[in-house]
Amino acid sequence: MFMQKTELLYEGKAKKVYATEDPEYCIVSYKDDATAFNGLKKGTIVGKGVVNNRMSNFMFKLLEQKGIKTHFVEELNERDTVVRKVSIVPLEVIVRNKAAGSLSKRLGLEEGTPMRVPVLEFCYKNDDLGDPMVNNYHILAAGFATQEEIDKIASMSLAVNKTMIEFFKSVNVDLIDFKLEFGKTSDGEIILADEISPDTCRFWDIHTGEKLDKDRFRRDMGGVEEAYAEMMKRIGLN
Ligand code: TMP
Repeated sequence: MFMQKTELLYEGKAKKVYATEDPEYCIVSYKDDATAFNGLKKGTIVGKGVVNNRMSNFMFKLLEQKGIKTHFVEELNERDTVVRKVSIVPLEVIVRNKAAGSLSKRLGLEEGTPMRVPVLEFCYKNDDLGDPMVNNYHILAAGFATQEEIDKIASMSLAVNKTMIEFFKSVNVDLIDFKLEFGKTSDGEIILADEISPDTCRFWDIHTGEKLDKDRFRRDMGGVEEAYAEMMKRIGLN
């Protein structure tokens, strides 16, 4: 497929999205810029764009093999990928297998506490409001999604979790939690969009518990680039 960037449609904190000559497709371009705490902390993780692009595409292909539809179309180069054009459902869907981060704070649970069932959380995707958590009623009342769409998003998220837990276990990584975003195609179908990367997941070494994700940046732990490189190595991408 021959695709070229035309105009810049949108620049986010970690990616740029370009239009192409075909209205059904966009090109996402992954940056090395890193932010945390809703943009309050800013920095650069050298090579992150390459890791996140290649790892997301690897994961999307794996999920497609399991029957989960995603926006992935074709990797153009180490930072750029052709994706289906979707309108993003304004929800961040968080799936948690063990307590960490904001859940540990909110419920007073020690980080690493196993969840008896996977926990699903929805946040309204709005930087000005700091992505507040919302429940089913808020989503319906505000019109962020229909009940049918919520049900589809929830079942897809749990299916993604199953595949990801199993895959990461096979490379000695404990999948603690992650964030997904979904989009609607021009014919109204809900598909998985955005990215799956060390920016959007918590990965702990299965034996040592060492953090191999963006928490190293968020928490000023050092070894950030090394952790991203280690995840690439684990999944066999370099
Ligand atoms: P949290 O514990 O800070 O709520 O994060 C839960 C998961 O979601 C974690 O894997 C990091 C990811 N995440 C994002 O991808 N984007 C965000 O803006 C936030 C707050 C978390």
